[in-house]
Amino acid sequence: MIFIDFALNETKSDAMLAFRLFFQPWRWRKGKEINNLKRRLKTRFFSSDSSIFFFLTGRAALYQYLSSLGLKKGDEILVQGFTCEAVVLPILELGFKPVYVDVNSSDFSMSIKDVKNKYTSKAKAMLIQHTFGITPTDRKELIEFANKHSLHIIEDVAHGFDPNIFRSKRYPGAVLMSFGRSKSFSSVFGGAIAVRGVRSGKSVRAVEKNIPNPSVWILLQTIFYKIHSVIIKSTYDIFLGKIIHFLFKQLYLMMPEVTKKEKNGHFNFMFLATYPNIAAIFMHAQLDRFNDVLTQRKKTSYIYDAKLGTSISRGQGLLRYPFLCENPNELQTLLKKHRIQTGRWYSQVVAPPELDLLNVDYIRGSCPIAESLCKRVLNLPTHISVRDAKRILNLLP
Ligand SMILES: Cc1ncc(COP(=O)(O)O)c(C=O)c1O
Repeated sequence: MIFIDFALNETKSDAMLAFRLFFQPWRWRKGKEINNLKRRLKTRFFSSDSSIFFFLTGRAALYQYLSSLGLKKGDEILVQGFTCEAVVLPILELGFKPVYVDVNSSDFSMSIKDVKNKYTSKAKAMLIQHTFGITPTDRKELIEFANKHSLHIIEDVAHGFDPNIFRSKRYPGAVLMSFGRSKSFSSVFGGAIAVRGVRSGKSVRAVEKNIPNPSVWILLQTIFYKIHSVIIKSTYDIFLGKIIHFLFKQLYLMMPEVTKKEKNGHFNFMFLATYPNIAAIFMHAQLDRFNDVLTQRKKTSYIYDAKLGTSISRGQGLLRYPFLCENPNELQTLLKKHRIQTGRWYSQVVAPPELDLLNVDYIRGSCPIAESLCKRVLNLPTHISVRDAKRILNLLP
């Protein structure tokens, strides 16, 4: 089975590492790997004047960063339609107002044209999402607009990003990353905020140290996921994996990526916790393979672009490749019969589809392009071989 959101990056070596770490509980919470990881991420992806702060999830990193900006209740945050509630719930929880901006159909990211329609003087920050890892076409104009109106800029690269884009000393604002299990690199849980300059990160640094540690249950889930996901993947086709997966879900042995509380529109404070050392150890292993994974994603994205006659990826290695069609649910079922799992990021302007949009202040019709894309988008896997990508292409209408 080809998976799209299940344990994309996990390999046998990750499972073996997790197994060994299970017997070393003194390394789970604290250890040298956290600071080493900060240094490594900085050297690899960010300019030398950057500081990086870790949290248990990307949504917690966003919550802490927004709360450090000194904004007032009711201040507006520009955020795109075609996003996940993990982005919107921290905004609402802090008493700010999300203002939904429409996207471009070419890159699934914020449209400068609609920013100009939606902007009011109450806007204080802009979240620029790099959807699927695509650098937004309007990025330069969005940054210029934000600078002109003194908006804080947060570039949300939870899905992935061009690895060279933030190496320049001139990147603006803050960068939000996620190390969740369905992202470009996974430590099962994890998120970070990178900022330039010492002063801008001062208050985030203080909270990073003073929030609670995650529970032992979360640490155990992190370890078990690395082990059981590999067993499930390798035995899925002989049915055993399906049974184990089903049991894990039924017995709540793995927390869903979006919890029930969040689906009901409430921020989950359980995620406001520190990033554990064990997750940093797993991230180091993921970064060791990052170049190979990126090359593979680039090749596949390129083939999809070439064969579909589109130019969505523009040389980047996307986390998922967005394919537009009239009946994405039917196509998804068909591909599943061929043992290919696809995704529906996003089938609703603020995902997941179970969420009542009224709970996140979205007014239907306010982002028509995003709404139309949601009806038609299907995500194709990119972490696969060229042969598998060609097999998928042959099955597309
Ligand atoms: C676009 C986007 N930004 C941020 C996040 C938050 O990441 P995390 O799951 O680590 O909280 C997500 C989560 O799925 C996301 O899709």
